[in-house]
Amino acid sequence: MKTWPVAGQGPLVLVLHGPNLSSLGRRDPGHYGTLHLDQIMDRLAKLAGELGLAVEGLQSDHEGDLVEALLAAAGRGVAAAVCNPGALAHTSYAVRDAVEAAGIPVVEVHLSNVHARERWRHHLAVAPVAAAVIAGMGPASYDLGLRAAADLLARRP
Ligand code: DQA
Repeated sequence: MKTWPVAGQGPLVLVLHGPNLSSLGRRDPGHYGTLHLDQIMDRLAKLAGELGLAVEGLQSDHEGDLVEALLAAAGRGVAAAVCNPGALAHTSYAVRDAVEAAGIPVVEVHLSNVHARERWRHHLAVAPVAAAVIAGMGPASYDLGLRAAADLLARRP
């Protein structure tokens, strides 16, 4: 597991990265681009400053870590989450249930357009309970995910 400390000031958005996303930069750049996760988190920290948000990050290859982070989020003041569940997006009803139980808006993001890839990637287990889904924009999917989170938070009653 790797974590990135809180950067910025304002409502806190948790950025979650699932299995295998630690190898971004060297993993299948045709689908995932050449940026490393640290670079993606740097971009998000900068964007968070512009949007008046704070971000913190967590990457784990273990389903339970994502579940625990989602379930603990609201209780420790996290306002929203941006989550790339990796392959768990297709298979994990545990992550799906955690997103549903989290009590905060969760924006699901994918670097690649999973709908245009292998058939097994077309099934999305988590997406039906996400507040929004963004796929296919490369690293910009995360930027757009953070913008979506800002928008959802601004619309809160
Ligand atoms: C991914 C897409 C998934 O199908 C894959 O298993 C990943 C990355 C993406 O960001 O495009 O690990 O979530």
